Amino acid sequence: MHHPSFVFDLPIKSHFQTQWQAPSNIALVKYWGKHGQQLPKNPSISFTLSHCLTTTSVHFSPRKDGSPHFDFKFDQKKQPDFHPKIQQFLERIQPYFPALAQHHLSISSRNSFPHSSGIASSASAMAALALCIVDFEKQHHPNWTEEDAQQKASFLARLGSGSAARSIVGPMMVWGTSKAFPGSNDLYAVAPQPKWHPIFNNYQDTILLVDKDAKKVSSTAGHGLMEGHPFAEQRFAQAHRNMELLKQALTAGDLATFIACTEAEALSLHAMMMTSDPSFLLMKPNTLAILQKVRDFRTASGTPLCFTLDAGANVHILYPEQDRIPAMEFIKYEFTDFCHKGAFITDQVGEGAKKVID
Ligand code: DP6
Repeated sequence: MHHPSFVFDLPIKSHFQTQWQAPSNIALVKYWGKHGQQLPKNPSISFTLSHCLTTTSVHFSPRKDGSPHFDFKFDQKKQPDFHPKIQQFLERIQPYFPALAQHHLSISSRNSFPHSSGIASSASAMAALALCIVDFEKQHHPNWTEEDAQQKASFLARLGSGSAARSIVGPMMVWGTSKAFPGSNDLYAVAPQPKWHPIFNNYQDTILLVDKDAKKVSSTAGHGLMEGHPFAEQRFAQAHRNMELLKQALTAGDLATFIACTEAEALSLHAMMMTSDPSFLLMKPNTLAILQKVRDFRTASGTPLCFTLDAGANVHILYPEQDRIPAMEFIKYEFTDFCHKGAFITDQVGEGAKKVID
């Protein structure tokens, strides 16, 4: 395998057009805290989703040498708001893909989920863009294996957004060095080898849109809150332990441990934000009400559903496909009124990104 940070300095200069779709992912063990150039302070593991997708096409055209040069459309419209993030991404990846200096990139993107819904789209967006760029590079490296290309795409996506490193293949990805997962590392995410228990291959994720407002704290500022945080070291140690526990639970199909670890991770993430300086309360009253009701319903009915959260008020409810009917009845009955315009998104564990052939 080629190390993905190795710079392939071939004289690439040609027209090339490609299109990829990449899924969002939901972390079970949370990445929270980073250092250096987008390196995680602790390992994380996520389910790759299948319905929340970004589809991106890129047309590369030759030009005179210079710094990254692109135009960007979202939903077929020019969107200058997105420019700084894309510019930063292209500048960061240029050392690993020097041919960027000799091409203009015409980028066009769309999401399968509402952009303003409060669902993080940076993971699927950066992964889709990274995959388009690696596809171009791949044309000039016919000896690359599929795994080489996936690793390079994850490596580049990480430089755009840490969680994007985990939006390449399914059903699960690990990012950050963890003793529980040989081959895991901080530079790119890997799809671990163990035989996952089949119950997790199509695990369900119903996303409750409690609050669609823009994030109160950007993720980069959020990660910064772990610098000098009084509980930082304990938190990182806890994440390492939860990687081990979850690996066992995910291979054995041990839902009790899966639920305990997943909920503990979500609550720890919010506990870190509540106890940082400055402190953030990102749950809304309805978020807390939902978490309590999920636990009550699980105790009363025995249906193994559980919750997880990202750095916001929305709740992801996770459950096995075989429990879909009682879980959805419960969700619709109890939570429709809690959600913005009664909205929720039904997703499930998926197979990863795909090239789109028109
Ligand atoms: C809480 O990947 O959005 O969702 O690297 O700054 O772009 P940047 O951060 P980002 O952080 C995601 C944090 C999280 C947990 C997770 O997905 O692991």
